[in-house]
Amino acid sequence: MTSSNSLIFLVSCCFVLATAIKQLPLEQTHHYHTLQLTSILPSSVCSPSIPGNKRRGSLEVVHKHGPCSTLNTDTVKPLTVEEIFTHDQSRVDSIRSRLAINTGKKDTLGSKASIPAKSGSTVGSGNYIVTVGLGTPTKKLSLIFDTGSDLTWTQCQPCARQCYNQREPIFTPSTSTTYSNISCASTECSELVSATGNTPGCSTSTCVYGIQYGDQSFSVGFFGKEKLTLTPKDVVNGFYFGCGQNNQGLFGGAAGLLGLGRDTLSIVSQTANKYKKVFSYCLPSSSSSTGYLNFGSGGVARGVKYTPFSTSQGGSFYYLTLKAITVGGTKLSISPTVFQTSGLIIDSGTVITRLPPTAYSALSTAFRAQMKKYPLTKPLSILDTCYDLSKFTTITIPKVSVFWDGNTNVDIAPQGILLANGASQVCLAFAANGDDSDIAIFGNTQQKSLTVVYDVAGRKVGFGARGCT
Ligand SMILES: *[C@@H]1O[C@H](CO)[C@@H](O)[C@H](O)[C@H]1NC(C)=O
Repeated sequence: MTSSNSLIFLVSCCFVLATAIKQLPLEQTHHYHTLQLTSILPSSVCSPSIPGNKRRGSLEVVHKHGPCSTLNTDTVKPLTVEEIFTHDQSRVDSIRSRLAINTGKKDTLGSKASIPAKSGSTVGSGNYIVTVGLGTPTKKLSLIFDTGSDLTWTQCQPCARQCYNQREPIFTPSTSTTYSNISCASTECSELVSATGNTPGCSTSTCVYGIQYGDQSFSVGFFGKEKLTLTPKDVVNGFYFGCGQNNQGLFGGAAGLLGLGRDTLSIVSQTANKYKKVFSYCLPSSSSSTGYLNFGSGGVARGVKYTPFSTSQGGSFYYLTLKAITVGGTKLSISPTVFQTSGLIIDSGTVITRLPPTAYSALSTAFRAQMKKYPLTKPLSILDTCYDLSKFTTITIPKVSVFWDGNTNVDIAPQGILLANGASQVCLAFAANGDDSDIAIFGNTQQKSLTVVYDVAGRKVGFGARGCT
């Protein structure tokens, strides 16, 4: 071989090789995730993330049942995956019944201290909590944060009827210099009708609220006003909230609930002047990490893409329009009318995304086709596409992306594609609704690690990649 020949050989050989090398991994990075199996398994150690979009003064978000939660120690025993799914299904069922009630008749809270029979929103169990300060002097309280409801409440002394076990001392309004009762005649008292779905009661001219959740959880008590300290720099004076005297349910040691819904009385509406109805959060990708909740647009990152709220539907929920889903780069063939028929809400309290059965079936079929090298195993409650990965340390899975109205595509993080019940049962973390007409729900598992921005005044929701770990 002459030197010029060998040069040609070398060049052509390496050109071919280089192209081959270049195409393969490029293809892989575009449409597949390669990851360590351990990165989707639960960890028992808290390792707080240093999120890119967290601004100073934002609230820390932790998973209620993870090692970063201080609620875990003694008051509550952690739920099994099956139990979490059972509660998740009752939340989904109650969202559905609330939508039916909103479009039809309204019912009322019979007598002020009774347990109403109607199903309301459900708190569920696979939820996230934030710690806020209430009163003067300020007392720390861990609240479940919920974009699916409006009223914020906490258990209050003297717990006239009952309080469940909570981690922190129960709030005592009589020792706070900034607490006051709300009168039955006030506008805010009447706004409880839409915020809770119940007509408020009246006790010696103090407004009495009652809210109940799908799984027999409820809170009933005095409607009050108090200083709310989100962060030392973010203080909301005269915040309307429920001071619960009769509380029961699956709140897992949390002191109550922070209502981030769309309706009047939600924290978003009450702080409209201050934060312009903008808030954002990132849910940590594992329960052993931390995320954040920000109010106002100050902390909103660049690179966030928005999708408009769909229709003019009111109420607590945030409705969005899903257009398509891709698996491993291939668009599923689902008629757009399928998503139009169901409608969709984004919800921080539903764990697993619920899709119309027609869409779920296309998703699981495509996912299975691209996961052929892994052995299938038995279903895990509502999840029917599960793999035994106990013999693997590294796995390659197809990317799953959702396409929203407004040309906004979002890659779901690996921890939002698979949910592990140990290495021997790792499942596609999506589920089917019972019927194509049931509302679809974009749940919190699929929101993990994304920056999610709610611009309620601008009627849009934004998504950004890598909000937190
Ligand atoms: C609020 O109203 C209730 C019911 O009338 C009463 O028992 C309670 O003492 C009041 N609290 C304050 C701080 O006024």
